[in-house]
Amino acid sequence: MTTEKTESKLWGGRFDQPTDKFVEEFTASVNFDKRLYAHDILGSSAHARMLTKVGVLTQIECDAIVKGLEEIRAEIERGEFAWSVSYEDVHMNIEARLTARIGEAGKKLHTGRSRNDQVATDVRLYLREQIDVLLAQLTRLQSALIDVAEREADTILPGFTHLQTAQPVTFGHHMLAWFENLRRDSERLRDCRKRVNVMPLGAAALAGTTYPIDRAYTAQLLGFDAAAENSLDAVSDRDFAIEFVAACSLIMMHLSRFSEELVLWSSTQFNFVDLGDGFCTGSSIMPQKKNPDVPELVRGKTGRVYGHLTALLTLMKGQPLAYNKDNQEDKEPLFDAIDTVQGCLRVYADMIPVMQVKNDVMREAARRGYATATDLADYLVRKGVAFRDAHEIVGKSVRYGIEQGKDLAQLSLAELQKFSPVIEQDIFGVLTLEGSVAARNHIGGTAPAQVRAAVKRAREWVRHSTG
Ligand code: ARG
Repeated sequence: MTTEKTESKLWGGRFDQPTDKFVEEFTASVNFDKRLYAHDILGSSAHARMLTKVGVLTQIECDAIVKGLEEIRAEIERGEFAWSVSYEDVHMNIEARLTARIGEAGKKLHTGRSRNDQVATDVRLYLREQIDVLLAQLTRLQSALIDVAEREADTILPGFTHLQTAQPVTFGHHMLAWFENLRRDSERLRDCRKRVNVMPLGAAALAGTTYPIDRAYTAQLLGFDAAAENSLDAVSDRDFAIEFVAACSLIMMHLSRFSEELVLWSSTQFNFVDLGDGFCTGSSIMPQKKNPDVPELVRGKTGRVYGHLTALLTLMKGQPLAYNKDNQEDKEPLFDAIDTVQGCLRVYADMIPVMQVKNDVMREAARRGYATATDLADYLVRKGVAFRDAHEIVGKSVRYGIEQGKDLAQLSLAELQKFSPVIEQDIFGVLTLEGSVAARNHIGGTAPAQVRAAVKRAREWVRHSTG
């Protein structure tokens, strides 16, 4: 390639003066949009085949283009492709290289299209693939949660409201709560994918094209569900990216909440779980420390994904139809959201199966926290006491227990009867942690039997959603 050829602009015809050197760098996107190369090549090959089908290109030209593009793909993958900011973006870098390799036919590839419909198509093809990666990662983490839930269906810990001990719950039930969060995330991504999978190609710059294009054929070649209905909308719409990053923000919010629990639970004060040495780091100064860096970082990274959502919403709010160069700014937030969420899901799916659950510590915490107080109230109600009165009676018993340094199950029948004469020997079955969780035996309840049933349904959902 001669210097003159690499440096001359593909759109240089109407210009007298060269682009300012800094402006060239300032306006270029190749350093970040080169990650779209495979999808750009995919889209270009389909476009060339469509142009051939409708008689705009000859079969010989088409073959040269498709072969040339494949060779460029190989060049890029071998790390031998010379990306140049003077060609601004991934699209013109590849087109210029194609013409350098195959000559005249390369110059015909851009017939009936614009970078405006090209870039929108590339981003959608790329995002569609990344959504599928994310869905598989979500499923992997969900399966890990199901496995832990099954293993720990009988394990009891205090459930919290206001971070105060509330009622005993089973660890399996708690893990399945996070499974449900991720199930919604998965459904949201699937729904978003429907709007991602619509093809802008054919919109050209903004108004469509004068060539007799067959958009349904291109869409079919590229696996799109349909061609976009309106050319102005097709080149300017970035809703799909915004809703994707919104879905990512919710995934991160869920992982961040989960992380907050794991940070608390792995503290010396709680000591409910051990995250495993592979997922913690030490302190350079305090030898005793084992820090939960992974959940902390996931919690921290949530902020940057929210930032990307705000960036994209703000990017779009001032744009008149149709394409504006502003849209080039969609890529970095989108790409970083993808990378961040994929990293977080991966590390979580690796970490959860090796997390050690400290059953004894959790059980003891539930016992100490008067977690069965509501069970005592419910017992009194069953014996005919009004709930408000029962609440008062149990409140007094708890206060007495705190004074005596005993939990409710440790009080004698005589002691309990001082608070209500209806209490009988059968109360002790009610005050145990096992009795408490087993009694919440309905769909959505924490009873071990319900956890096992929910595990079954969750596995069925996984099978169905991946099948
Ligand atoms: N690099 C551009 C982008 O990311 C490609 C489209 C440019 N179109 C144009 N008319 N300048 O949006």
